[in-house]
Amino acid sequence: MDAKTETVADNKSATDTAKPILEVDGVTLQYKTKEHLITATYRVSFDVHRADRFVLLGPSGCGKSTLLKGIAGYMKPVEGAIRLKGREISDPGPDRVMVFQEFDQLLPWKTVKQNITFALQNGGKTSSAAEANDIAMEYIQKVKLSGFEDTFPHMLSGGMKQRVAIARGMAMEPDVLLMDEPFAALDALTRLQMQKELLQLWEDTHFTVLFVTHSIEEALIVGSRILVLSPHPGQVKAELNAHTLNHENVGSKVFARVQQRIHDMLFADRILEDEILGEELDK
Ligand SMILES: Nc1ncnc2c1ncn2[C@@H]1O[C@H](COP(=O)(O)OP(=O)(O)O)[C@@H](O)[C@H]1O
Ligand SMILES: [Mg+2]
Repeated sequence: MDAKTETVADNKSATDTAKPILEVDGVTLQYKTKEHLITATYRVSFDVHRADRFVLLGPSGCGKSTLLKGIAGYMKPVEGAIRLKGREISDPGPDRVMVFQEFDQLLPWKTVKQNITFALQNGGKTSSAAEANDIAMEYIQKVKLSGFEDTFPHMLSGGMKQRVAIARGMAMEPDVLLMDEPFAALDALTRLQMQKELLQLWEDTHFTVLFVTHSIEEALIVGSRILVLSPHPGQVKAELNAHTLNHENVGSKVFARVQQRIHDMLFADRILEDEILGEELDK
């Protein structure tokens, strides 16, 4: 371990002793349809600390988006509690901002800058148009979109639209930035670029982010901590420390080994099921 990673590790243990900013405590979330009761997550627990890059990792259907909906205040747990800074979440609020995968999350009739100033003024961040303008320009510069402030979303590439959504989310300075597979619809190169830029932004301001992905590689690049979830219903398989791995280690032996370990962990039950099924079929 070199000096740099040691410092990171030290900081980590220091923040670990502090109270978590977000507590997800034994949370069961369900959807009730006319015919079915779907348990999306079952007794899921985790703590997010200030400046964590906390990743929810798991295959499609393991309840990642549902957990974000619960944290955002759009769904209430049927069991357990979600607390932000010690207070139970009851409603949506500007202290939790969501960035989605979809490119159409921006208001199409507003420019890049207006998308951000609108959020700032409506989210109660500031009532001053001049201040909203200044904050918007600061974050437009941070996400490398200077010169595009007066452009409308339809003129932007997918990656640029996601940058605007990230700038808007960060400009709100939420307690936790919620990101639901924000790079999943991007091509591989743009995706890698965006992952790097997100880490640079984090180096800059050390914001707290809860990042959802189904990609093990992305989880290891982006995350400082990773919660591994399994589906039907969504349950916690493991919680891992990943703050020493990033895009610089992609392809290295240690990165590959951790990637394989998580892969095995995610698919262990399925392999077992397949083996049992295979035996059944042999009979
Ligand atoms: N609006 C909904 N109504 C009913 N069931 C839903 C709804 N949204 C998600 N689900 C179910 O809840 C489970 C978790 O879904 P989701 O949170 O979207 O998973 P993920 O984001 O990990 O792919 C899945 O079984 C899914 O089919
Ligand atoms: Mg999802």
